[in-house]
Amino acid sequence: TWTMSSFIASAIEEIRSQVGEERALAALSGGVDSTVAAVLVHRAIGNRLTCVFVNHGLLRKGEAESVRAAVQALGVPLVYVDASARFLAQLEGVVDPEEKRRRVGHEFIRVFEEEARKLGKVRFLVQGTLYPDVIESGTALSHRIKSHHNVGGLPEEMELELLEPLRYLFKDEVRELGKELGLPEEIVWRQPFPGPGLAVRILGAVTPEKLSLLREADAIVTEEIKKAGLEKELWQYFAILTDTRTVGVMGDRRTYAYTVAVRAVESQDGMTADWARLPYDLLEKIASRIVREVPGVNRVVYDITSKPPATIEWE
Ligand code: XMP
Repeated sequence: TWTMSSFIASAIEEIRSQVGEERALAALSGGVDSTVAAVLVHRAIGNRLTCVFVNHGLLRKGEAESVRAAVQALGVPLVYVDASARFLAQLEGVVDPEEKRRRVGHEFIRVFEEEARKLGKVRFLVQGTLYPDVIESGTALSHRIKSHHNVGGLPEEMELELLEPLRYLFKDEVRELGKELGLPEEIVWRQPFPGPGLAVRILGAVTPEKLSLLREADAIVTEEIKKAGLEKELWQYFAILTDTRTVGVMGDRRTYAYTVAVRAVESQDGMTADWARLPYDLLEKIASRIVREVPGVNRVVYDITSKPPATIEWE
């Protein structure tokens, strides 16, 4: 649209004048915000931007591959680091949600710093901060990054200046911008995903077995929601692996296996959310597929709590 292309033109001008001849670094998380921000900055300053994608091993099924492919297809150079083993080691035995966040955040900074050091002198850090984050964390100009966010604390430690080209946009505008910049639907319509990833969707300690179990269950939720044509109406839809095991029956055998919870919500900005009234036959399809296709799960429940009083995530 005209308004989006004029936004792009003025954003590019602004980025160029802010960055001058310096270099910038972007941390890709796989999400729409960080990807759109990076692609926009790349339009403005080209190869003076380096993107680093730290795969913390807590992503959804196929996510790392699709983000890499989309970014590379746009000609944006990407440093890809598979740091799964390091993150898993940090998370070993950790049960407390805030402690999980803290450890993932710290490890992220360490890995990111190591990569950044290899690149030499960089002055700016690109962040996909949106307007609601800006309001939530204080005033528009001098806000602090919440511990909530993937790269919290990073700028201070590395003395990088923030470049936040999306800071006046809402989520729907970012999606429109992404489309205008040529990003594929699959990235543009990616649902919000927490920085600590699946670590906060596995109740209790994170293990490789639980990660792969949750990935499979979550992929089924995604697939069925998409097949039903609901992915653009929902803010988020995903699976949670609870730490509860219950008794079930399969053939003539008693089972004692995990319960998976399914969450789907409608929301404008994530601050409040309403549980989605998914059709019963869709819920039935999701539940029977998960139980049939994911070994180790014998029960599926649907979360019918809104935010508040619940939060969107379970941890
Ligand atoms: P809650 O669970 O607080 O989530 O209702 C609100 C929105 O924020 C996302 N979320 C996170 N995002 N790091 C993030 O980058 C986090 O630690 C985190 N925790 C929650 C959540 O997915 C929802 O969109």
